[in-house]
Amino acid sequence: MATIKDVAKKAGVSVATVSRAINDKGYVHEDTRKLIDEAIRELNYKPNEVARSLFNKKSRLIGLILPDIRNPFFPELARGVEDEMQAHGFRLIIGNADEQLDKEIDYIETFKLNNVIGLISASTNAVLSQYKSLSFPLVLLDRTSEEHPSVHADGYAGGRLAARELVNRGSSRITLLKGPVEFQTARDRFKGAVDELYSANVEFDVMTTASFAFQEAEYWAKELFEKYPDTDGVIASNDVVAAAIIHEAHRVGKKMPEELQIIGFDDIPFSQFLYPALSTIRQPAYDMGREAAKLLIKQINGEKLESKRIQLPVQFIERQTTRKGDHHD
Ligand code: RIB
Repeated sequence: MATIKDVAKKAGVSVATVSRAINDKGYVHEDTRKLIDEAIRELNYKPNEVARSLFNKKSRLIGLILPDIRNPFFPELARGVEDEMQAHGFRLIIGNADEQLDKEIDYIETFKLNNVIGLISASTNAVLSQYKSLSFPLVLLDRTSEEHPSVHADGYAGGRLAARELVNRGSSRITLLKGPVEFQTARDRFKGAVDELYSANVEFDVMTTASFAFQEAEYWAKELFEKYPDTDGVIASNDVVAAAIIHEAHRVGKKMPEELQIIGFDDIPFSQFLYPALSTIRQPAYDMGREAAKLLIKQINGEKLESKRIQLPVQFIERQTTRKGDHHD
């Protein structure tokens, strides 16, 4: 990979002159600049972002903390952030905190050392004191708190919608999966579903699932059919767990959707390819990421924020794990 020294040699100038040219710092004669640009193109030289940021005391680096990109929901978030940032000339450094406090704190420190000029965090610990003392702007994404600019989807409405669709399509022995209670996203959708089921005067069981992840999904699916073998409708805490329930339902011989209806939450790309394809509540993850990036860029540019907390709507995606149409009894 070409270095700044290679560019200087090819252009026949000093390294300092090349550095001034690529960082727009100090005078460079127009003819010299053309020689340098030509050398950069021919050598396909890419400036080192960290070195640039140290020289400029202002980088174009943005930090993004995610819980775990092995859950397909988070790459959708990240792609929305990256596309918006890239369009404005910023570059992303991504870290997986694995929902561990010490890893999250470590990434915050790493981003500071790498001279980032902004941070977006799909944090699991939004109230961390480290977020209060940052020297650069912050936006919380998906898992948020009232204290900082944030973007999330309307999880409460999503929980109500999932419950309403299941009841309207004829389920009466419903099992509601309560996701990891430490996350606001899980609490919101659970409360929405509970409120809807109470208002519909429908009895239901609750099973707590302490994780959203693939690693534990099969365990929750087996536990569900051991505890509630007669359930005819499941509101899952997310699509990953819903996929495991589909897999286990096949194994125990449950016909879907005739004997068992399932509604997930997220609408990750794979959900459309499951068999039967998963009906779910769609969170606009890509748009959430882009909105978070827009909020951060406004802060970096010193612009006033019309709104500090952006909530995007969710929608029911009907596929084949729910029966067609309304079944008002
Ligand atoms: O599937 C992962 C879950 O955690 C999503 O529902 C998202 O809201 C995140 O909080």
